[in-house]
Amino acid sequence: MQKVLDSNIRICCIGAGYVGGPSMVVIADKCPEILVNVVDINPDRIKNWNDEEYKEIPIFEPNLLPLLKRTRGKNLFFSTDVHQEISLADIIFICVNTPTKQIGVGAGRASNLQWLELCAREIATHAKGNTIVVEKSTVPVKTAEVIKDILITETINNISKEKKYFSVLSNPEFLSEGNAIKDLQDPDRILIGGDNINAIDKLSSIYEHWVPKDKIIKTNLWSSELSKLTANAFLAQRISSINSISALCEITGADIKEVSKAIGGDKRIGNKFISSGPGFGGSCFKKDLLNLTYLCEYYGLSEVALYWNQVLEINNWQQKRISKVVIEKLFRNISGKKIAIFGFAFKADTNDTRESPSINICMDLINEGAVLKIHDPKVKEIEIQKAFEDFLENNKELKNNKKLIDLRKVWNYYDSIYDASKNVDAILILTEWSNYKTISWEEIYKVMRKPAWVFDTRLVTNPDEVKKNGIKLWVLGQG
Ligand code: UDX
Ligand code: ADP
Repeated sequence: MQKVLDSNIRICCIGAGYVGGPSMVVIADKCPEILVNVVDINPDRIKNWNDEEYKEIPIFEPNLLPLLKRTRGKNLFFSTDVHQEISLADIIFICVNTPTKQIGVGAGRASNLQWLELCAREIATHAKGNTIVVEKSTVPVKTAEVIKDILITETINNISKEKKYFSVLSNPEFLSEGNAIKDLQDPDRILIGGDNINAIDKLSSIYEHWVPKDKIIKTNLWSSELSKLTANAFLAQRISSINSISALCEITGADIKEVSKAIGGDKRIGNKFISSGPGFGGSCFKKDLLNLTYLCEYYGLSEVALYWNQVLEINNWQQKRISKVVIEKLFRNISGKKIAIFGFAFKADTNDTRESPSINICMDLINEGAVLKIHDPKVKEIEIQKAFEDFLENNKELKNNKKLIDLRKVWNYYDSIYDASKNVDAILILTEWSNYKTISWEEIYKVMRKPAWVFDTRLVTNPDEVKKNGIKLWVLGQG
């Protein structure tokens, strides 16, 4: 493969996941003269990114494929040659996963930085000459300091003749899954934090290929890192705020859709991120809120920590109250009853299930004895099984429930909405996939056990259409 381009910039991106993959596809597309190499330690992921037929691409994202087809093999390459690509790169983006720690100090709250630290060590060892290291993964504030420490130690201890120089920048990613390509092509802003102006300008020059200069915000390292946590905390707070009001609507007869529209009409509030639902999921919001509260407690700001923690509490409460409503409506007994789950991804237009509200809600229902028939247009059966297994691994109380020992007996996967609905007492809509908006309820009603219930937590159904067919309907925030 020809890998020499007429370019003075060579990029290496470590991590071919939901952030690294789409981000590098867009950079390669917008900057044809820049050589972009995406590396990952997971050979299967790389194999799938290189799939000749484009059928096994590991990430589902609208509009990703045409860009990938335009760039892959031209100025965009995927490989497992982590060391080699580090050694050749001018700019290295770190896009590895930083999930919440499961054990040890800060377990359940702080981020696990083991993969990030490993990357920094690999960079320290293999990089050559001047290298700009860009932290793109969502990380706790002051993580850049860890990276810097590792790189500087290497610079000092390096006994080889060739000198190494590193500049560390923070360039957090604000893309939202399902909308990633659009967010990357037309970002609200680009944030670059650092203290080396030349390095900042060099990174900025890449984005300037398609982003107006006035949208590129340059700050110090810590402002950049904290801005990412704060932005996600604010977004999550809006969702918890509207979800808290959804419960009040159900009791008082107000309609959450009308309330959202009414408050969103105020420019100071705005109409984005006020759709009520089963709670926020995804890899960022929970992790970032946990990071923020951990940080505040560490610095003795317990009131601030408590404030942000409440956003998480409401999110957990929203998920719990949905399973309670389902149990209540099905005569307070779901033991042995079949329930169809429509949607397992944490939001529409992604195949990502990380922190999906569906996981907690399904587990609550299974724990109460229900048998689930799960449908999702993009999430694979194996991913659902893995999500359940991971949940049980981290939930000792449920792990001892005998019914859950053979998980495969309490849930099944369906490709068709119709087949998933056969003989179920209820359908629970948990993801706002567009095909759930156009379901023929007349057909579905015929195959359901009666009385038949639909629980719509995403407000995607037309209530008149559902009810006219004899189905009992409960809509979140409407009752
Ligand atoms: C988020 C941030 O938006 C992004 O800037 C950051 O970089 C990563 O985290 P993402 O998690 O991919 O992106 O998706 P997002 O669209 O923010 O949705 C997060 C969760 O909130 C989803 O579960 C979604 O269903 C939920 N949500 C979103 C609502 O319940 N209501 C809303 O109005 C908006
Ligand atoms: P994100 O949503 O942050 O992109 P993902 O889990 O989707 O998270 O992707 C992170 C990727 O980083 C994974 O494919 C993982 O294999 C990869 N990764 C983790 N550590 C390393 C490492 N040290 N070197 C190369 N790749 C790594």
